Amino acid sequence: MAKATVSFASGERLEFWAVGPGAVTISQYGETLWSVPAFEAHPSYYSYHHREAGSVVVEWDRPEAFLWAYSYDPATVAEAGIKLWEFSTDEILIRAGKEIGTWLRSDPQRPRIHFSPCRNWMNDPVGLCRMGDCWHLFYQFHPCGGDWGPMHWGHATSPDLFNWTHMPVFLHPEQNLWRLGATGGAFSGNAFEDRDGRLMFFYTERLPAYDLFKGYREIQKIARPDRRMIKAASISTVLEQRPEGVEHDFRDPKVWWDEAAGAYRMVLGASIHGDPAVLLYGSEDLREWKYLGPLFRAPPFFREQGARAVECPDFFPIDGKWVLIMGLVGHCDPGSGRHNLLYGLVGDFVDDRFIPDSDALQLLDFGSDYYAMQSFATDGRQIAFAWLFNWEFRKPAGSPYSGELSLPRQLSLDARNRICMRPADEVEEALTHAPLSSAEPGRYVLDDASIDIRLNGTLDGTRITATEAGQLSFSIVVEDQSISVQLPQDDGSIRYAAAIAGATDLRVIHDKGIVEIFADGGAVCGTRRNYLNVRPDDLVILSKAHVSVFSGG
Ligand code: FRU
Repeated sequence: MAKATVSFASGERLEFWAVGPGAVTISQYGETLWSVPAFEAHPSYYSYHHREAGSVVVEWDRPEAFLWAYSYDPATVAEAGIKLWEFSTDEILIRAGKEIGTWLRSDPQRPRIHFSPCRNWMNDPVGLCRMGDCWHLFYQFHPCGGDWGPMHWGHATSPDLFNWTHMPVFLHPEQNLWRLGATGGAFSGNAFEDRDGRLMFFYTERLPAYDLFKGYREIQKIARPDRRMIKAASISTVLEQRPEGVEHDFRDPKVWWDEAAGAYRMVLGASIHGDPAVLLYGSEDLREWKYLGPLFRAPPFFREQGARAVECPDFFPIDGKWVLIMGLVGHCDPGSGRHNLLYGLVGDFVDDRFIPDSDALQLLDFGSDYYAMQSFATDGRQIAFAWLFNWEFRKPAGSPYSGELSLPRQLSLDARNRICMRPADEVEEALTHAPLSSAEPGRYVLDDASIDIRLNGTLDGTRITATEAGQLSFSIVVEDQSISVQLPQDDGSIRYAAAIAGATDLRVIHDKGIVEIFADGGAVCGTRRNYLNVRPDDLVILSKAHVSVFSGG
């Protein structure tokens, strides 16, 4: 057995996920305090609670048995975050505080200004909220590997939506899904503060599932946090029965207090007799929920184009209107070949009915790497994050993690009632903006930082090309009143383009392969994730517009 001495605070907790074969023992003053003589043959969660401050001896035999491990002192974790543990054959490397940020930044492929998990798989942002001066970000997390699997809620906090402190896993699946050989777990959901200011999280539990596409059961639950916001302390099930015509997909609740109804309302993503749909529920007490009918049912062509259900519906008032945003899982747009798209509708919400201003759905992002968006209202603003992924392109093998989130965005409606998105004020404040000077007209030499390109004026004829050692990193072209983006992996079979007739503003943010495009006051957004040539050294911008380029964080 390998051995290391580790110092523990009184009350410190060690949490890890491990798979056998392997074993671990913790002892102090020569006495065994805790031991797992043999890890189970499937991944499992283990947790040790230390009582007496001081040095302990940790012994282990197989470092590869540990899939994700950290420790924390509950009394200080809110400020200090978790300490990451990495087992090797002869030592345990423990990273704490700033060392974590330094270690994350030492990965030349990891985006700098976008959130990513330290290790393992992440998908949707969930449970977003702000408590006092602290922003809380939770996310769909699989602690045992780089692929989607039994879902947990990862957690991070921030004072400014930009610098993140990694926190303990907040929410676990209700059963050991690895043991069952099943998937499912604590799926997506929202934070909600009741009228007494008590925070809780509404989310879906997918009960043990043996097929990814059918036959599973999804139920809605409430998780209330402990007083330090470290763990879900009490969990109750509030909705199990699906309405008539709704099959297995029945998930991703968003709850709000509805002034007009004088009661609580909830939307859920589902399908009704095969058509993707958003369901509306009502409650007087947050515990008993009554089905009020469909809020939205997708026109039949979506089903014909492969859409199976609505995921992550978001529904909120903004600028005097109500906005519905949703992802249609399985859908592929036949015109462009894009899939994983988010659509929005703007309208009125009257007597529990959503009346869109128009039947035409607004495509929220033409890039197809902006999915599972979740927004929340705070100090009069609607802030949103989304998951930058589309299942088509995976991180290259060997990456310690998978999944990044968009920059936080602020939502609004423009004069034409189009949904607009732009980076949140906090990002603008936190980004160090060093103007990049041009070596020769239109040409910029890049360092390793993120870049922020802004154009104002005539956009038609614009060409932005970034390369690494002469190889394409990304290119953006505006011609014939249309904007398009190309990445190295594109073979031309999918068209990533949008109309921007009359637009005079364009902003492009690039961060290690993440390209976020904002045009026409944010009414046209395109987000893409590229895993090749992610460190461009050369940027050429040809345009009639006024151009400024900044080097970011
Ligand atoms: C969207 C989604 C949600 C679900 C979660 C599971 O990406 O499929 O509908 O709750 O991810 O991880």
